[in-house]
Amino acid sequence: MKLPKKLTIKLQHREETNSLRSLKTPTNLVDFSSNDYLGFAKSEIIFTETHQYLINNNSKQNGATGSRLLSGNHNLYPIVESFLSNFYKTETATIFNSGYDANIGFFSSVPQRGDVILYDELIHASIRDGIQLSNAKAFKFNHNNLADLEEKINRQNTSNNQAEVYVVTESVFSMDGDSPDLLKMAEICTKHNVFFIVDEAHAIGVFNKGLVEQLNLQHKVFARIVTFGKGLGCHGAAILGCTELQNYLINFARSFIYTTGLSPHALATIKIAYQTLLNQPEYPEKLQDNIHHFKKEIKRFSLNFIPSNSAIHCCVISGNKKVKNISLKLQENGFDVKAILSPTVTKGKERLRFCLHSYNSVKEISKVLELLSIFA
Ligand SMILES: Cc1ncc(COP(=O)(O)O)c(C=O)c1O
Repeated sequence: MKLPKKLTIKLQHREETNSLRSLKTPTNLVDFSSNDYLGFAKSEIIFTETHQYLINNNSKQNGATGSRLLSGNHNLYPIVESFLSNFYKTETATIFNSGYDANIGFFSSVPQRGDVILYDELIHASIRDGIQLSNAKAFKFNHNNLADLEEKINRQNTSNNQAEVYVVTESVFSMDGDSPDLLKMAEICTKHNVFFIVDEAHAIGVFNKGLVEQLNLQHKVFARIVTFGKGLGCHGAAILGCTELQNYLINFARSFIYTTGLSPHALATIKIAYQTLLNQPEYPEKLQDNIHHFKKEIKRFSLNFIPSNSAIHCCVISGNKKVKNISLKLQENGFDVKAILSPTVTKGKERLRFCLHSYNSVKEISKVLELLSIFA
């Protein structure tokens, strides 16, 4: 059967604007594109230890068999959730099947009709989608702009003092690699008595337990979203918060309720990955060394990099066609660097996105930047 005409037109438009997406299988090129910041996804040690852990626990079940509220809450769930709440020094950790599920679950269910969500204009699609499903009103504030945020909080507080206000940001922005001033943001949220939520997807593992913990802000944040598919190299996510929040999510977050739970294998991998992070600080240390080397090297060239201290470094190169061509040339030279196109990012702000890893060598970093300076 043929695709409806309207959809064909939309695909054609993508093709015309050089923004058509397609699936590719991973290559053997030098990895400057995956989110596997610490190399845990490819770790044979984690793979083998996970297998052994499941055998030792007599956990020989392949799937969860149902939603966590029905038959799917197998015994690894309480073990891993309690491990996570100790690790993050939080009352509870509630595991969701992915960061996408965690964000749509939280934002569609927690803010109520009449409440207000204030979100950074560059917030991740999963949070935007959750907000779309919510009955609350939502307003964006300018990226990392605390004056704009405070002005918008003040506006809400004077117009409707019945409304709860929720403020959400990322500790490391996925498409820019930069970070907000979390200390000041937490201060503003405390001062105005509003709920502060931080998505730590790209900070976990890169900055060990994340930036909230590093800045000792656990008690000023209402909820943290931590994901396991990036620095931890496996799959799933958790919402960290108080016991009442967990109770609420289990009862009202539809992406938690109406889906099959994660398999015991997925849960065991999460546990072993976290233990590796805890016991082997050399992984994040090596990554930090590489980040410093990258930052030092970019100073040699006049390239338009967005300032970042994280594992994500973006060189802005306007135009889908141009940025795609450069990414292709780098790939032909053995380096996997992805072009981020509009409409994923604003038109004119297309970019090459370098993801750094503990397993990149300084030689690879210097070489890829030299090539970029030639092609850009
Ligand atoms: C900031 C942020 N939050 C949430 C997610 C979604 O996480 P997951 O890949 O586990 O669904 C991502 C991943 O793209 C992300 O970058």
